[in-house]
Amino acid sequence: MNRIYFDHAASTPILPEVAEAMHNTLMTVFGNPSSIHTEGRKARSIIEETRKTIAKAINASLGEVYFTSGGTEANNMVLKNAIRDLGVQTIISSPLEHHCITHVLDTFKDTDVHVIMLTPDEKGRLSLAELEKNLGLSKGKVLVSLMHGNNEIGNLLPLEAVGALCKEYNAYFHSDTVQTFGKIPIDVQACGLHFISGSAHKLNGPKGIGFVYINGDAAIKPYIHGGAQERNMRAGTENIPSLAGFKVATQLAIENQAQRFAHIVELKQALIALLQDEIEDITFNGDVFGESLPNIISLSFPQTPKSEMLLFSFDIEGFAVSGGSACSSGVDQGSHVIAALGGDTTRTTIRVSLSAMNTMDDLQRFVAVAKKLVPVSVLER
Ligand SMILES: Cc1ncc(COP(=O)(O)O)c(C=O)c1O
Repeated sequence: MNRIYFDHAASTPILPEVAEAMHNTLMTVFGNPSSIHTEGRKARSIIEETRKTIAKAINASLGEVYFTSGGTEANNMVLKNAIRDLGVQTIISSPLEHHCITHVLDTFKDTDVHVIMLTPDEKGRLSLAELEKNLGLSKGKVLVSLMHGNNEIGNLLPLEAVGALCKEYNAYFHSDTVQTFGKIPIDVQACGLHFISGSAHKLNGPKGIGFVYINGDAAIKPYIHGGAQERNMRAGTENIPSLAGFKVATQLAIENQAQRFAHIVELKQALIALLQDEIEDITFNGDVFGESLPNIISLSFPQTPKSEMLLFSFDIEGFAVSGGSACSSGVDQGSHVIAALGGDTTRTTIRVSLSAMNTMDDLQRFVAVAKKLVPVSVLER
């Protein structure tokens, strides 16, 4: 029986078109993009075509897109450099952010930077009123850093509304869009965004390549010093094959966005209905029936002596699912996101993250296996 992959929020398989573009580039484009000869210019054109594809996808100018090694680097760059270069004194964020935000915020603890964490409700929703209150009370320059799509529970942030508040209070607005770039439309201008981040491996592209959007009015200074790559912002010879793959992955994601989204919405609805019918005492974390990404569904079951083995049991049965955030699965450490919702942290959480490659049959097989694994555990409590 084929394995079923339900961990697309962690990473995604490379599409054949992406692999082909990468392979062709590896085999034929070897010049250094900083060289002025034909081979160098051929490599440079791949960087610029990819930049054009991404800028168009988010309604940015070409000069506002910089390539990075992925979402982690992009987010680190924004937070650290906003403090260093833009005179930001206060950062307003939330405990639901990815560790590549929260752990950077931790480093500001013994400094003059004031970090304000908004308080999510039990569904992980943030209050615009609380954000506005803090914007009003904060002195000096403020950076609001709130993720667009949560990687553990799927909650979506109303980008336009937050952007409008940031504009009103003259604050910089950063959103970690790693889980949403390519999946739902993002218009950096309409949303008043100053910074966003993206990562190719979340949309069927290669790992180790991503981008940061930096609005022209929020010009942070060079981040890695050396050569003049990325217009002096990030030195180092560019990763040309990965950029070629990133371009194709982005093009395919944008071209098929509406169709992929509609299919995943159907899958999500079907999965929830099946689980509710078949499994006793199942709950869903986050704003699953409200504003959330259709591809991320976080489920909880009562804790049992077998809970720790649940992920492995699913794996043995042929399903790749994860427990909370992929970045902490396998480590004996609870999810900081589930903990921040303030619910029963003793329950066992599983994150099912879908893609348009999944089918109704995958869901039926998953629910049949879940039925076998979960109720047995519940009875043995
Ligand atoms: C919301 C979010 N931000 C940032 C990252 C980090 O991205 P990357 O793996 O490209 O460093 C991830 C990856 O799990 C993520 O889900």
